[in-house]
Amino acid sequence: MKQHIKHHSITVAVVLGVLAIGAGAFVYSGLYDIGADDHHTKPVFAVLQTLRERSIHARSEDLTVPDLNDPQLILKGAGQYAAMCTQCHLKPGMKDSELRPGLYPQPPNLSQTRVDPKDAFWIIKHGIKMSAMPAWGGSHDDPTIWSMVAFLQKLPDMTPAQYKDIVAKAPPDEDMDMDEDGGHSHGGAAADGARTVPPT
Ligand code: HEC
Repeated sequence: MKQHIKHHSITVAVVLGVLAIGAGAFVYSGLYDIGADDHHTKPVFAVLQTLRERSIHARSEDLTVPDLNDPQLILKGAGQYAAMCTQCHLKPGMKDSELRPGLYPQPPNLSQTRVDPKDAFWIIKHGIKMSAMPAWGGSHDDPTIWSMVAFLQKLPDMTPAQYKDIVAKAPPDEDMDMDEDGGHSHGGAAADGARTVPPT
């Protein structure tokens, strides 16, 4: 009996060894196409998607959500969103951007989809590896991130006119100032993409 188990263990070890060498050879060979325009196969995508969702959920479920209907919080979030998010996540009335179609995974259109608040908070704060979604937690405190979450809950119901209106009233995004001379890089509430990309 013992001999039997020992024999099996050796077989398993050899198989694992061969697999590890194979995996190493594949990685080193350059066969894998890392290009963003070469999309994952369906099974690989499904595995990555499940990994992503489980990872986010496990980390976000114990968060305490503040009052997301607070008008001041929503207003603050509008200014943040307009300044930092529209090129990837669009806004009411915006069909696409120059940046978005080339991204893989493609950023969801957040003017049409509503994300669970806890998941949204975690994703905005920490970002998502191997995707274009940045971690904004390094430059923004938690209350500011909750303001974006609060705004995102309202965004899918907004018309282009309502969006424009709330962004115009929003306090300027002053969280981060990367300019060496101390000048403001974001330009505040009106900087909603229209500034950087002239209307066509
Ligand atoms: C450079 C592009 C880019 C910018 C800028 C960006 N994001 Fe993202 N974001 C992404 C991508 C790509 C994903 C999808 C990643 C994935 O699915 O793995 C994503 C995912 C998300 C999600 C999760 C959506 C879902 O359906 O699960 C939220 C919420 C989000 N972003 C919020 C924001 C907010 C708020 C901002 C601005 C502060 C922002 N993002 C700026 C690229 C971007």
